[in-house]
Amino acid sequence: MSQQPTTENAGSRREDSGRQPPYLYPDYVSTRLRAPEKPLIILPKTLSDTTGPAYGRGPVGELDHDLTRQHAGEPLGERIIVHGRVLDGDGRPVRGNLIEIWQANSAGRYTHQKDQHPAPLDPNFSGAGRCLTDGEGRYRFITVKPGAYPWKNHPNAWRPAHIHLSLFGEAFRSRLITQMYFPGDPLFGQDPIFQSVRDPEAQRRMISTFDLEATEPEWALGYRFDVVLEGRGATPMERA
Ligand SMILES: [Fe+2]
Repeated sequence: MSQQPTTENAGSRREDSGRQPPYLYPDYVSTRLRAPEKPLIILPKTLSDTTGPAYGRGPVGELDHDLTRQHAGEPLGERIIVHGRVLDGDGRPVRGNLIEIWQANSAGRYTHQKDQHPAPLDPNFSGAGRCLTDGEGRYRFITVKPGAYPWKNHPNAWRPAHIHLSLFGEAFRSRLITQMYFPGDPLFGQDPIFQSVRDPEAQRRMISTFDLEATEPEWALGYRFDVVLEGRGATPMERA
């Protein structure tokens, strides 16, 4: 049985709640260009949406979760462990979920040709990793704490330190993208990407917590970041 496409009024529901970033947030300048002007058309799901490939080209490798061991030497910066659980709206673990992360190096520079701001690249840091959640929905990455970086959104604009996360869910179509921040960052107040989530509780859900139990003596600080995929307590997500 085929379903008819439905329409949605430019994501107004998302904008009203304050718990998710709106499509249009004028202080975040690029949303002025990309926010939809017409009602969205929601396409019906097809069988291949759920049966199509969701993973990368190759199987997830044993060390893909460790961004500090991808090169001959170790990257510079503060070594950290980032871990947490992926949960559905009822608090159930989401198992076998592919999580990909990408981030700037400790100096705040991405390994990307578009990032040319004057901070050093690190030959021992590419800034991308991935892993699968285990039977309890847990994931764990080893990396270095990313630096803040400037962007040209407004005069003297700097992004708070953050790690981008992509969660695939059951299929490519259900992919969700968010950003994890670090507690106490002085840049939250002037960052329109962070501030586009208006609800203070929802903002809190984007900030990891320092985790002494996950901290390994003489080696790395631990941060915990749980991701809730849906419901009132959902982690704010960026959606195209
Ligand atoms: Fe970024």
